This record gives sequence, structure tokens and C-alpha cells, in this order.
Amino acid sequence: MPNDISALADRQDLYALSLEGQRLLFTEARTALKFSDEPVDDEQLRAIWELFKWAPTGSNLSPMRILYVRTDDAKKRLVPLLTPPNRPKSESAPVVAVVAVDSEFGEYGAHLCPSVPGLQEVLAANPALRDASGNFNAALQAGYFVLAVRAAGLAAGPMKGFNAEAVDAEFFPDGRWKSILLVNIGRPAEDAWGERMPRLAYEQAVQLV
Ligand SMILES: Cc1cc2nc3c(=O)[nH]c(=O)nc-3n(C[C@H](O)[C@H](O)[C@H](O)COP(=O)(O)O)c2cc1C
Repeated sequence: MPNDISALADRQDLYALSLEGQRLLFTEARTALKFSDEPVDDEQLRAIWELFKWAPTGSNLSPMRILYVRTDDAKKRLVPLLTPPNRPKSESAPVVAVVAVDSEFGEYGAHLCPSVPGLQEVLAANPALRDASGNFNAALQAGYFVLAVRAAGLAAGPMKGFNAEAVDAEFFPDGRWKSILLVNIGRPAEDAWGERMPRLAYEQAVQLV
């Protein structure tokens, strides 16, 4: 397989995930730049969440939020706020996830991490700690989210090229959610792909001590 560029295709004994699963999530999964008209339904959006929510975060906190933009009216409000090269990508996508961090994510602290009593109060009293934890864990969750989209059999197109302040003013006017990433979601069009770029080799990125 031409795209099996990183997996040890001849050492499947090293993986618990099937070759099909490796391809779906990693080795053949691509960033879609154009989508077909096939819709994405509510059950698929829920299915993404039901996988995504189990991936680990610091203190089990869950600061990432999602606004699914899918009506024509909502897309008309969003698309002009993207960089021009990104606009046709989101225009073609049946759903665009506005991935955000909830600045008040700490309010679920007691529920999500009962083993650390007072976590909610600590975060409320330390805005710098709260924001660092929120931004780090939300970015981590955004990566998990892309993989969960793929696991649901859909293509994802993450994009940072948008005016986050303008998106926040348009969709989150109370200031509580702050957008960090857009993810186009749907079935890929036939010409959905750009050039596959290289990845670092193990030796370039890994040290052992
Ligand atoms: C955080 C992040 C930001 C990105 N921003 C953009 C973007 O603004 N526009 C775009 O076309 N692609 C964007 N991409 C897509 C990447 O360029 C793409 O995922 C990467 O080149 C790998 O492509 P492949 O999955 O086809 O191999 C972004 C991806 C990530 C994860």
C-alpha cells in the first residue's frame, strides 16, 4: 500500500490495532480539503463524542467544547471569518466543528475529578493555572477529536487559519468559550487530497536514555 509509509507493515505482531484500524486512523487517513454532499447526521456527531470523551486529560478535566456549524445560515456567518484559502474547504463540508476551550471548565472539577477535593476552587482562584490547564488539555482533546472523527468513518480537515476573535464575537458573545480550531467533517470528495507530505523518522524525533 503506497500510503503505509510509517507502520511496520511486516511487523503486525507489534500492533494490537488491526491493519484496517491503523489505516483508518493513521497510515491512510488524510486531511480532507474538499467534501462530498453526503450529509452527516446527529447520531454520527454523537458517536464521535461517545468515543472522544474517554481519551485522557490532566486531572480528567474536559475543557474542550464543540459548536457544530451545519445550517446554511450558520455557515454564511462562519466562512467569511476564515482565511481566503480555507473558505471553500468549509463551504464544501456538511459540518464544521468550531472547537473551543470553555474558560469556566473548572466548574465540572468536582464531578470529573472527585479524588482531588477543592480542584474547582483552586482553578477559580488561579486564572493563570486555569488558563494554562484549559488551553493545554483542550488542544490535547482537539487531537483526540480528529481521531474520533476518523474512527466514525468520516474525514476531518482541521484548520487554524481563521480569525478566532471574530469567530468568538460571532458565536460566543458571552466570552465563555474561546475558539481554538476548526474541523471540517464529512465524506471526502474524489479530489479531496493535497500532496502527502513526509513525516519524521523515529531516529529524528526519539531519544532513549
Ligand atoms: C492544528 C492544525 C492546523 C491546521 N491548519 C490548517 C489550515 O489552516 N488550512 C489547511 O488547509 N490545513 C490546515 N491543517 C491541515 C494540515 O496541514 C494537515 O493536517 C497536514 O499537512 C497533514 O496532512 P495529511 O493528513 O493529508 O497527511 C491544519 C492541521 C492542524 C492539525
